[in-house]
Amino acid sequence: MILIVYYSGEGHTEKVATVLAEKVGGRLARIEPVSEVGMFRKGMMPMFGTRAEIRPMKTDLSDVDFLVVATPVWSRKVPPYVNEYLAGVKNAAGKPFSVLAEMGGSGGENAVEIVRKSLEAKGMRFVSSAVTVESEVDAGRFGPTIEEFARTIAGVAAPAS
Ligand SMILES: Cc1cc2nc3c(=O)[nH]c(=O)nc-3n(C[C@H](O)[C@H](O)[C@H](O)COP(=O)(O)O)c2cc1C
Repeated sequence: MILIVYYSGEGHTEKVATVLAEKVGGRLARIEPVSEVGMFRKGMMPMFGTRAEIRPMKTDLSDVDFLVVATPVWSRKVPPYVNEYLAGVKNAAGKPFSVLAEMGGSGGENAVEIVRKSLEAKGMRFVSSAVTVESEVDAGRFGPTIEEFARTIAGVAAPAS
């Protein structure tokens, strides 16, 4: 089972995650904040790696074969709700994961590294990452990026014999 966990404030990450789910046959799970913080705190909280409460969701990966985390880039980092999800992940040791970062224009690789370090600390195995840009998502021009990303996931989740 490929689980695609994502947070999306304005719908861009959701759009990309949905297309990815169709391509790899993944199950989508949305990170839902208990309450959205205001714009000032949105900018500040990621800088300090802060966490913020989310609604209960699947964090036990016992029956998951592959995890994808898709996140918007906030202040070159990730939203506090994504930090909260990552902190809760359990029974994940040895499992492969990939990271997708959706951004306005810069900081995508930095956000990928944050997710990567957090999941590697849980014993998970990094496979691949992709970065999409808001303007390209708006214009529907992210297809090739996701196509390539999906191939790296399918290659591990269902290796060709
Ligand atoms: C609080 C906040 C901080 C942001 N910081 C960055 C940033 O550092 N770099 C960047 O490229 N985009 C940044 N953005 C833009 C988002 O990454 C971009 O709009 C993305 O498409 C949002 O995805 P969503 O529609 O799934 O929420 C920021 C947006 C918000 C709300």
